[in-house]
Amino acid sequence: MDARPIGVFDSGLGGLTVLRVLRDRFPHENFVYLGDTARLPYGSKSPQIIRRYSEQNLHFLTQMGVKAVIVACNSASTQMRESEIDGLPLYNVIEPGARAALAASPRKRIGLIGTRATVLSRAYEDEIRRLDPSAEVFTQACPLLVPLAEEGWDGDPVANLIVYRYLQAVMQHQIDVLIMGCTHYPLLEGSISRVTGSSVTLVDSGEAIAQMMASDFKAGRVPAGDASKTGTLKLCVTDAGSSFQEMSRRILGPDAPAVELV
Ligand code: DGL
Repeated sequence: MDARPIGVFDSGLGGLTVLRVLRDRFPHENFVYLGDTARLPYGSKSPQIIRRYSEQNLHFLTQMGVKAVIVACNSASTQMRESEIDGLPLYNVIEPGARAALAASPRKRIGLIGTRATVLSRAYEDEIRRLDPSAEVFTQACPLLVPLAEEGWDGDPVANLIVYRYLQAVMQHQIDVLIMGCTHYPLLEGSISRVTGSSVTLVDSGEAIAQMMASDFKAGRVPAGDASKTGTLKLCVTDAGSSFQEMSRRILGPDAPAVELV
């Protein structure tokens, strides 16, 4: 038993979609979440800057005494591919997302939407082809979707139209799976699934990483928390000027704790 928290970070509130799944799946674990809201967005920045910010986030979480870190941001994950840093297990969302996509794709025709940084890195394409060289990947950067997700505009006619415009090209390739390669995008799942229809399976970073963590808990790579206690949560942001608090309650539920500025 190990009561140390699991650290989770993202550039903003997108990673809360990952945290929501993890808390649901591992209710006895303690979590500390860092949203780097002062430096959002990451998706339009260079690989070097994204790496530097991610290392700083990792350092902050390490200081909080975490037992593992989850990079709940696809843009940051493309630059943080190590499975361990200084003996601390590190999880990025690329490999679990690629595995989940292949498992859900009988025709191996996979669409990927993400930030410019994620799409330009080709991290998903490389990982998917490493796992299955016969798979085909069709990508589209969707820079306007993060602000729409942060505004909570899922299902709004404006969001539907923008999602439609972005997805048109990938949909023409007869994909059977679409990776929501940005942790903000599950907040627009209504608008996205409206365009993809039910024949395309949506892959979500949270579900994918939770599956991988479940097997790592079993294998003892990450020691489990105290099964007799309900896990705690600490929410930290680097700038409090956004609607983070309100959105965190919308995403995690009314019991989400008060956000701390760090
Ligand atoms: N949530 C981040 C991701 O998964 C993107 C947001 C940003 O651009 O900072 O890629």
